[in-house]
Amino acid sequence: MSVLCRVCVCVCVYIYIYIYIFIPCFIICLSCVFRYVIQNPNCEWEEVPSLPSTAYLLLRSKFKPSISTIHSVVESSDDVTTKLLIKLQNGAFVEAVIMRYDTRLGKYGGKPRPGGPRATLCISSQVGCKMGCKFCATGSMGFKNNLSSGEIVEQLVHASRLSHIRNVVFMGMGEPLNNYAALIEAIRVMTGSPFQLSPKRITVSTVGIIHAIKKIQSDMPNLNLAVSLHAPVQDIRCQIMPAARAFPLEKLMDTLQEYQKNSQQKIFIEYIMLDRVNDEEQHAHQLGNLLEPFEVVVNLIPFNPIGTLSHFKTSSEQRVTSFQKILRGTYDIRTTIRKQMGQDISGACGQLVVNMPDNRSIGGGSLITDIEDLHL
Ligand SMILES: *[C@@H]1O[C@H](CO)[C@@H](O)[C@H](O)[C@H]1NC(C)=O
Ligand SMILES: *[C@@H]1O[C@H](CO)[C@@H](O)[C@H](O)[C@H]1NC(C)=O
Ligand code: SF4
Repeated sequence: MSVLCRVCVCVCVYIYIYIYIFIPCFIICLSCVFRYVIQNPNCEWEEVPSLPSTAYLLLRSKFKPSISTIHSVVESSDDVTTKLLIKLQNGAFVEAVIMRYDTRLGKYGGKPRPGGPRATLCISSQVGCKMGCKFCATGSMGFKNNLSSGEIVEQLVHASRLSHIRNVVFMGMGEPLNNYAALIEAIRVMTGSPFQLSPKRITVSTVGIIHAIKKIQSDMPNLNLAVSLHAPVQDIRCQIMPAARAFPLEKLMDTLQEYQKNSQQKIFIEYIMLDRVNDEEQHAHQLGNLLEPFEVVVNLIPFNPIGTLSHFKTSSEQRVTSFQKILRGTYDIRTTIRKQMGQDISGACGQLVVNMPDNRSIGGGSLITDIEDLHL
């Protein structure tokens, strides 16, 4: 802790004792206490060094160092992904997944990535999800609870101890825009001191909650937006994503058009490949036409049925590739195919479900693998 911080805390405590405006002052110097807590998330206040004794008293009576704890950490055998199982205040569990890119064999000829290691953290925003997407393990759990902003930020705190996190994607459990206030508050903290994440390195993934997309643009400009489209026409969309009924495709695309006009940033489109449901050539053409007016990156996600009760099958590699060819060749749309990583630990991002408290989920391969790959 720096001398400046110590002085700052002293002054704050002093002000608190004499005039009751401690909180605003405390927030200003909280970042030095915060920094310690980030390094030591399971610490007690007594362990924070060099604070005046009254500060400990106040911290103990009014604050908690953290409201969630790491229940377990599982590394994939290839060292690329790490899954954190996090226990929340109310005893529920969520997952956060760290994905490291520089070690990925082949991508940079087996050499470390230029610019050093970097990691993306996939964060959960709710326990369960009420959108009920038919291909999603989280959806099959139903909605259990919203995470508080603190619980969202603490996923980054916990993960930062293990890796230097450069990117955050809201693609874990839950629909982030259905927990809007906590989401915005959490992003404000992440973009402030001491994390200082650029909003450009934060991606919010949504099924397309129209009113929230409009709102987030004014509340949080410069974020990355990822839209889980998953189908090029409304009826297929409703079939696999019941929540889409409330958000007609045409209206959604108008909203995105407006969003892009204001943001001037590309939009990421997620498209899960379900055999003979949305992976036909005609669907690729429909999608190409739909997206032609946009600046987008399409991410094709091979479906992994593990963990869901659905009857869907994975599209064959050949069907995924020809889908990609049409989007690229005919419509000149940047299209990537998402790699699956960390399957051996069920360390996956997107459509997560937590099988707790039994031990099956660890090494049991019971979760969906759906790795966010947008920032490559
Ligand atoms: C979760 O958050 C949403 C949006 O803020 C709110 O409408 C809903 O009531 C919350 N649900 C619970 C169980 O707290
Ligand atoms: C889970 O694993 C731990 C350690 O391996 C063991 O102590 C515990 O009893 C297991 N729990 C269940 C429910 O199997
Ligand atoms: S895919 Fe996303 S929005 Fe749909 S049920 Fe799963 S977590 Fe919810």
